[in-house]
Amino acid sequence: MFINIISNAVKYNDAESPILRVSSSVRAGFYVVEIADNGPGIGKAERNLIFEKFSRGQHGSADQSGAGSGLAISRQIVTRMNGSLDPVAGPLPGACFRVRLAVLR
Ligand SMILES: Nc1ncnc2c1ncn2[C@@H]1O[C@H](COP(=O)(O)OP(=O)(O)O)[C@@H](O)[C@H]1O
Ligand SMILES: [Mg+2]
Repeated sequence: MFINIISNAVKYNDAESPILRVSSSVRAGFYVVEIADNGPGIGKAERNLIFEKFSRGQHGSADQSGAGSGLAISRQIVTRMNGSLDPVAGPLPGACFRVRLAVLR
């Protein structure tokens, strides 16, 4: 799951100086990991679509290989672990994905 999200952040980043920023914290019983980049970002209209199986956004076009299944599978995995995966407003001008995983006691 992390490999997929991080490889997306690298793959879709066409900035002259690409930045990938990973941050983590523990908040209210959840590990929270945020993966941010300074690429083109994800438009509002695509925020749900990109989690559908075999769907690709406007930057997942002919010049970038992919089957459009990574985020669908990633969300399925993390949801089965009672966590979540969502696009959020991040610290950089591009995309940011937040993963939440319950801290087991
Ligand atoms: N970091 C990102 N920046 C911009 N667009 C992204 C990013 N991550 C995912 N996307 C968009 O979400 C779509 C779905 O991603 P994914 O399910 O991993 O499939 P794939 O990478 O095979 O296209 C991508 O086609 C792309 O349009
Ligand atoms: Mg992908």
